[in-house]
Amino acid sequence: MHARIALCPGDGIGPEVLVEARKVLDAVADRFGHSISYSEHLIGGAAIDATGTALPDDTFAACAAADAVLLGAVGGPKWDDPKATVRPEQGLLAVRQRLGLWANLRPVAPYPCLYDRSSLRPERLAGVDLVVIRELTGGLYFGTPKERTIGPDGRRAVDTLVYTEHEIRRVVEMAFRIAATRRCKVTSIDKANVLESSRLWRQVAIEVAEQHPRIRVEHMLVDSAAMRLITHPSQFDVIVTENMFGDILTDEAAVLSGSIGLLPSASLGDGPRGLYEPIHGSAPDIAGHSVANPVGTILSVAMMFRFSLGLEREAQVIERAVEDALRDGCHTRDLGGTFTTEAMGGAVRDRLEEAAADASSAMLARSI
Ligand code: IPM
Ligand code: MG
Repeated sequence: MHARIALCPGDGIGPEVLVEARKVLDAVADRFGHSISYSEHLIGGAAIDATGTALPDDTFAACAAADAVLLGAVGGPKWDDPKATVRPEQGLLAVRQRLGLWANLRPVAPYPCLYDRSSLRPERLAGVDLVVIRELTGGLYFGTPKERTIGPDGRRAVDTLVYTEHEIRRVVEMAFRIAATRRCKVTSIDKANVLESSRLWRQVAIEVAEQHPRIRVEHMLVDSAAMRLITHPSQFDVIVTENMFGDILTDEAAVLSGSIGLLPSASLGDGPRGLYEPIHGSAPDIAGHSVANPVGTILSVAMMFRFSLGLEREAQVIERAVEDALRDGCHTRDLGGTFTTEAMGGAVRDRLEEAAADASSAMLARSI
């Protein structure tokens, strides 16, 4: 198989974690006889510094021509002035929207060997295996008007929360399809007691549920869901929610795993092309120190094999190698260890061969 991958390292620890993820990708491609061609592009603050814009045209063109995009992170204090009109995050939001990547999958399945790194008690974590499907190209992030004005009462700002039926239906349908491959439960999260957009969300979710009688469905208000994610996390299987709620809840869910540095994500749309990135962000406080955890990005590569390249075995080999490394005590600083970013990437690569040997038919049943 041949694949074209667009690499967008971005800012902060983005470039550091991407280097390690690419080495794992290369090792797996070698092992299984795939050829990968890479191109590397500016995005975010790095792109603003070089070109004045957060998503240069050639970056977008390369992402649109690739089979998959692997992204590090964007943002940092250098570009954080609230008065700035050009911001690194615009690059990420624009690439998600212009590539039509309307669903963001964020799986959270804490490793038993890391239960003691979480701020939750181990008995709360037993059996937690959930995936959040976050709507990614609608809602408050993109609704218009989105502006500042000056009126008689001084400065005024507005963001708009708008959803169409079509935008809701396609992401909720994806949640039901994925639930059918897992524990057959969907939790749709909204704020239907207050927001009109959430009442439409709930209505569409109920309609979609009627087409999937085998799947249990529950509707939960976002405030209550925020609490239950911590008090009863093992009750969730597939969560589906709108853009902003999903952004907030997935950082919260990261606490379950012991470190946000472990968590990957896949952004998908109508076709196989996807954008893969860790959920942790640019972490400017630790950038350049070689202490960032590359696992979130390495697991994003696994998701890339699964969803964009259709190579489930390769995905599982990476996931197995990561789990083996963590179980063997290879931990970066966020997990209380002393492994550098590079050493952690190496620890995963060292375990690929054994993981591949284990890649028996027994492994292949699982999909996400
Ligand atoms: C995320 C991030 C982004 C978002 C930022 C960097 C724009 O927090 O991917 O969760 O809010 O979507
Ligand atoms: Mg976020």
